[in-house]
Amino acid sequence: MKIAWLGLIGLFGFVLVGCSQSGSVSVSGVSFDTEQIAQGQQLYAQYCASCHGANGEGQFPAAPLLPDQTGQFGAPPHNGNGHTSHHPDDWLIRYVSEGGVSLRNPELYYPMPAFGDQLPDEQISLILAYIKTIWNKR
Ligand code: HEC
Repeated sequence: MKIAWLGLIGLFGFVLVGCSQSGSVSVSGVSFDTEQIAQGQQLYAQYCASCHGANGEGQFPAAPLLPDQTGQFGAPPHNGNGHTSHHPDDWLIRYVSEGGVSLRNPELYYPMPAFGDQLPDEQISLILAYIKTIWNKR
C-alpha cells in the first residue's frame, strides 16, 4: 500500500518535472508549482496552523524550542528556527501520516496527531512543499 503510493507519487513527479516552472519546490523528488504550494498553504492553515502557527512560528513563538509553564514542549516551529528541514522528505510524510511523540521523553512533549485518515500522502506532500517555502526564512 505504502509502496503503491510512492510509485504513484513518483510517476506523478515525472510528469510534473517535465512542465515545472521556476519557483517550484520538490518533495521526495516530486516538484510542486506555485499553484500547488498555494493549495498546500491552505491545507496547512486548515490542519496544522492551530499548533504550528499561521506562519510556522511554532506553538509558543516567544520561545519556540523551550517548554511552557507545565514543562512540556509544544509543536515545534517549521520556519528557520526549527529543525524540520533536517529530516528527509519520506520521514516527514510518514511522520505527519502516523503522528508521533518524542520517543526519548514522551511525557515532555505534546503529541503530534496522525493525519493519515484525513490526508492522503499527496496532500501531505503539498503541505510539506509549502512548509519548505517558509523553513529557510529567518
Ligand atoms: C494538536 C497540535 C498539532 C497539530 C494540529 C499538528 N501538529 Fe505537528 N507537531 C505537534 C507536536 C506537539 C509536535 C512535536 C512532537 C514531539 O516531538 O514529540 C509536532 C511535530 C511535527 C513535526 C516534526 C517536528 C520537526 O519539526 O521536525 C512535523 C514535520 C509536523 N509536526 C508537521 C505537522 C503538519 C504538516 C501538520 C498539519 C497536517 C501538523 N504537524 C499538525 C503538534 C501538532
